[in-house]
Amino acid sequence: MTAGDPAGVAHLYVHLPFCASRCGYCAFVVEVGREDARDAYLDALIGELHREAGVLGPLETVYLGGGTPSLMGAERLARLLGEISPLLAPGAEVSMEANPETVTEELLGALAEGGVTRLSLGVQSSHTPLLGILDRRATPGDAVRAVELARASGIPMLSVDFILAVPGQSPADLAADLEWIAAAGADHVSWYELEFKEGSAIARGDMVPADDDLAADLYLQAVEGLEGLGYRWYELANFAREGAECRHSLAYWRARDYLGIGVGAVSTLGDERRRNAPGLDRYISALGAGAEPPRTREALDADTRRRERWMLGTRVDDDLDTAWAGPPDNPAALDLMRAQGLIQTGPGTVRLTRRGRLLQNAVMQQLMDFA
Ligand SMILES: C[S@@+](CC[C@H](N)C(=O)[O-])C[C@H]1O[C@@H](n2cnc3c(N)ncnc32)[C@H](O)[C@@H]1O
Ligand code: SF4
Repeated sequence: MTAGDPAGVAHLYVHLPFCASRCGYCAFVVEVGREDARDAYLDALIGELHREAGVLGPLETVYLGGGTPSLMGAERLARLLGEISPLLAPGAEVSMEANPETVTEELLGALAEGGVTRLSLGVQSSHTPLLGILDRRATPGDAVRAVELARASGIPMLSVDFILAVPGQSPADLAADLEWIAAAGADHVSWYELEFKEGSAIARGDMVPADDDLAADLYLQAVEGLEGLGYRWYELANFAREGAECRHSLAYWRARDYLGIGVGAVSTLGDERRRNAPGLDRYISALGAGAEPPRTREALDADTRRRERWMLGTRVDDDLDTAWAGPPDNPAALDLMRAQGLIQTGPGTVRLTRRGRLLQNAVMQQLMDFA
C-alpha cells in the first residue's frame, strides 16, 4: 500500500448508498430500496474500516455521505458511530447528510449521542414546483420540521444544501430560498449549480438547462444574498457563519489525504487514488470473505497532483501557496489574469479576486491545459 500522510490520514469519508428513489439529476453511487442488504452492508463497512485502520491517524474530520445516510436508521448509525468514535481526535468534526423527510427525533437523538457535530440537510429548494422538477420526496414543510428537530437535538451545526439554476427557477424563487435560509438560521449553506451529469436521468431526457446568463445572475444573487445575511463566501459554492466552515470539505480543497470507505468510495493516499467499485452485492461478498473490496488504483503523477492543487486551491478564499502547488501550465497567463482583475498575486501566492471567483472556470481554462 502506498504511504499516505506519515502522521496518519486525518479525514474519513463513509458512503451510505441507500435511497428511497433516485432523483433525476443524481449520478452518485446509490442503491434504491434494498432494505434486505442494510445490515450486511453495515457489517461490510465496519470490516473495511478495520482493514484500513492502519493508515489512519487521529481523525480530525469524518463525513457520512450518500445516498441517504439517514435511511440507515438510528440503531445502525449508532453502531457505526460507536466504531468510529475511538478513532476521533479531540474536537473532531463529524458530519452526516440527511434528507428532510427521513429526519425523526429518535434518529437525531442517536446521532447527537453518537458524536455527530454537524447535520447537512438536503433541502435543495423551498419552492414546491422546483422540488417536483428535481424529483425530491420532501415538501417544504418537511424541511422546516427537520430544521426544528435538528435545532432541538443538540447537534451543534446545521448546514443546508440548495441547488441553483434549476430549469424554471426565477430570481423571485431564489429570493424565497434566501428568506427560507434566513428563517432557518442555518450555520452553513452549500449552493451548487445543477449539473446535467452523465448517467443521470436528466442528462438522457429532454430537460433544458437554464440559460448561462440567467445561471450567472442567480449565482451572483445567491452570493450577495447570503453575504447580506452574514455568511462568508469561503468556497465557490459554500457559505458559512463565523467558525462554521466545513473542515472536511476544506481538507479536500486543500488536497489533503483522505480515506473513503464503502461502495463507490474514493480515497487519496499519498500518490495513489483508489476507487471502490460500485455494486453493493460484490462489495458485501468481498468484505464478507475477508478480502478487500473490488477497486481500482491509479498512481497520481506530479502533474496530476499539481493540476488538482490549482483546481481545488483556487476554489477557496485563501492564498494558494505556489511553492506547494507548483506552477500553472501557462505561467504567462498569470500577468494577463492579473491585468484583467481576475487574480491577485503576492510573494509565492495566488488567489482569485471576487470577479475571478465568479469566473473560476474561465480563469482555469487560461492557466491550465486540459486534455
Ligand atoms: C450526493 S447528495 C446526497 C445528499 C442527500 N441524499 C440529498 O439528496 O439531499 C449531496 C448533495 O449534492 C448535490 N448534488 C447532487 N447532484 C447534483 C447535481 N447533479 N448538480 C448539482 N448538485 C448536485 C445536492 O445539493 C445534494 O444535497
Ligand atoms: S440526490 Fe440524494 S436522495 Fe436523491 S438519489 Fe441522489 S443521493 Fe439519493
